[in-house]
Parts: sequence; C-alpha cells; structure tokens
Amino acid sequence: MGKAKSAINIDDLRTLAKARLPRMVFDYIDGGSEDEVTLRRQVDRYTDYELQWNSLVDISKIDTSATVFGERSPLPFFISPTAASRLFHPKEGELAVARAAQKVGIAYSASTLASQKLDAIAAAAPDVPKIIQIYVWKDRGIVKELMARAKAAGFTGCVLTVDTIVAGARERDPRNRFTVPPKLNSKTISQALAKPGYLLDMFTSPTIGPVNFEGLDTGGQGIMNVINDLFDRTMTWKDAEWMANEWDGPFAIKGVATKEDAVRAVDHGASAVWVSNHGGRQIDTSVPVIDLLPEIRAVLSPKTELIADGGVRRGSHILKLIARGATSVAIGRAYLYGLAAGGEEGVDRAIRILKDDVERGLGLLGVPRIADLDGTLLRLRS
Ligand SMILES: Cc1cc2nc3c(=O)[nH]c(=O)nc-3n(C[C@H](O)[C@H](O)[C@H](O)COP(=O)(O)O)c2cc1C
Repeated sequence: MGKAKSAINIDDLRTLAKARLPRMVFDYIDGGSEDEVTLRRQVDRYTDYELQWNSLVDISKIDTSATVFGERSPLPFFISPTAASRLFHPKEGELAVARAAQKVGIAYSASTLASQKLDAIAAAAPDVPKIIQIYVWKDRGIVKELMARAKAAGFTGCVLTVDTIVAGARERDPRNRFTVPPKLNSKTISQALAKPGYLLDMFTSPTIGPVNFEGLDTGGQGIMNVINDLFDRTMTWKDAEWMANEWDGPFAIKGVATKEDAVRAVDHGASAVWVSNHGGRQIDTSVPVIDLLPEIRAVLSPKTELIADGGVRRGSHILKLIARGATSVAIGRAYLYGLAAGGEEGVDRAIRILKDDVERGLGLLGVPRIADLDGTLLRLRS
C-alpha cells in the first residue's frame, strides 16, 4: 500500500509531498506571493467561523450534491485548474488527477498551461464535466483555437481567469532559482539530487511544458515570463464578453473580488462568478474569500452560480464556504499535495478525505442536505 493511501488528512499528504519533491518544486505548489499573508490567513480564517448544530435530526440520508457549471455533481467540490501538473508527478500529471475525478464523478478543470494534451485529459475523464481555463493571450487567434479544440474534445465549461494579468511575486521561486520547466543550475541540481526518485521520473518522461500550444514561440521562457510577456494587459470586460459569446456555454470569471465586478461578470455573459485570490499567489494581503461571499451572493440572482476557492484543507472549510453563499467549491493545493505524494492514488485519497469530512460534517451539524446549509449555524468569533 502506498503511503498516500494511509494519509488521514490533507496535511499528511502535504508532508508526503514535501518528502517526495525537490524543495523548489514543493515550494512552487506550497508558496504564495510576497509575505504569504493571504496564503496563511486564508486557511486560518476558516477557524474564525465557529459552528453551532441542530440536534436530533434524522441524518440517515446525507445529500452532498451541488450544481457545478450547470450540471449535477455528487459532491460540492471539484478540481481547480493548476498549471503544469506533470511537475508534481512527471509521469502522469493531469491524467492522474482527471482519472481520480472520473472515479467519483466530480468536474475537472484543465489549466491553459496544462502539461498534458486536452484530448488525453478528456479520454481520462470521459464522463465528468470538463472545464477549460483560459488566460487572455495577446494573440486572440490562440484563444479562439484553444476554445475550439477544448469544445471538440468534449469540454463543456470555460473559465476566464482575471487575477493573473501580471504574475504575482512568488519569492520562493527566485530564491530557489526555480523556473517552469525547471532549468539546471547549482541550486536546482543540489535540490534535485536530494530526491532521486523524482529525478528518475523526470528524466524518463518527456520535457514538461504547455503542450496545448505546440508551435507557440515562448522563446524558451519559463511560465512566469510567459504570463508577463504573452498575456494581454489591455484586456477589459469587452474581451471577456467576446470570450463568453465565443464559448456559448457555461462560462465563469475566476478571480472576482468585489460585488461590482460580480455584477459586471454577469452583465458581460458569465453564468458563474468565481471568487478567488489564486490561493494567495497573486496580490498579497487580499481579503480571505470566505469573508467576501455574502456581499457577492447578495448581488447575484439565484440562477447565477457562485464558485469559491482558496485555502481549503478540510471538508469543514467547504461547508463553511457553502454556508456563506457558495454554490460549489474548487480545490487546488489539497489535490496537488495528493498528486505529488502518490499520483492517482494520492489524488483519490485527497478527494476521499474531503468527501468523508463533508459527509461527517453534515451529520454532525444535523443538516442532512447540503443545499439547506446557510449562515444560521455560523458565528464569527469576536
Ligand atoms: C501550483 C498552482 C498552479 C496554479 N495554476 C493555475 C492556473 O494555471 N490557472 C488558474 O486559473 N489558477 C491556477 N492556480 C490557482 C488555483 O486554481 C486555485 O485558485 C487555488 O489553488 C486555490 O487555493 P488552494 O490551493 O489554497 O486551494 C494555481 C494554483 C497552484 C497552487
């Protein structure tokens, strides 16, 4: 039995990931921007919302289902898009995550900067909703072509990420002299040699890169430079509207932080508003997502989905986000730690931990249907 299988919580998977990965790669998953205030506070903030519960409610049947990109999902959480998953598991990367999502029937989102082809991802998760995440490239032809390819591969949802027009200052990366894909230098070599298992996987697998952009001239640059050089800083709501029309299906704007932008997102064609600060990797000292939800929910019609992510390490975090107004929750590092710890088995474990937490949590709260969760059982610690 792999070690990941016996992890009891997400933090156990993080510890296993740390043991498996070279320091620079672990830091790339684990880190945030600048002083990492958002990164830390976002996780801690969940504990400020304290719980009450209903007693003596029949909890023999627990319903954890939710709507995700217009479709019924058996669980209220799904896979958030993350770049270059093969960095964390060189042999399979995105495919291991997609297979794990397929097994439990939750949606999978592929990053613009995925390190496996969209067709292969779709084949690994044929029956679950698939969502393509897009950044806006200066060359709109690239965006159009990527959307067409995603549609042809069976992706049903599209998300435009708007918090990454410029790359955040993730200080662990330059300190480790780390780039995506990793380049060899005195620092990265010594860190890589300390993890021979990973190194072997890396050397026996194809080079890691944004494979859905074959032929794109990135000038051999790392991902952060691609963001800074090839993403479009002139992008406005007009362009978002163009994309929503172009996609013509469930469409979310990810990285919304104000109620005004939530209204603009809907006015410009989004069917879902995705509140996120990129897991504390973009602007530091941003407000924890859980604090923002009620004011944003209040300006949306009931039919508009409100997706939330950031700092989810326990099922209770998911329940609290939903109680504050989220329709569904996206997970990032929680599954990446699992992927790094044990490939598909590690992602299975991460999902299982959160699923069990959510089911147990609803039982403990005396709320058998997740759809009935609201703010009445939450108190903000004074
Ligand atoms: C290693 C890593 C890579 C990411 N890459 C992307 C990306 O390519 N596109 C995107 O929209 N968000 C990306 N994100 C942000 C996630 O989708 C999500 O918003 C964030 O991870 C949620 O916070 P959590 O990791 O604390 O759950 C990335 C996050 C991490 C940790």
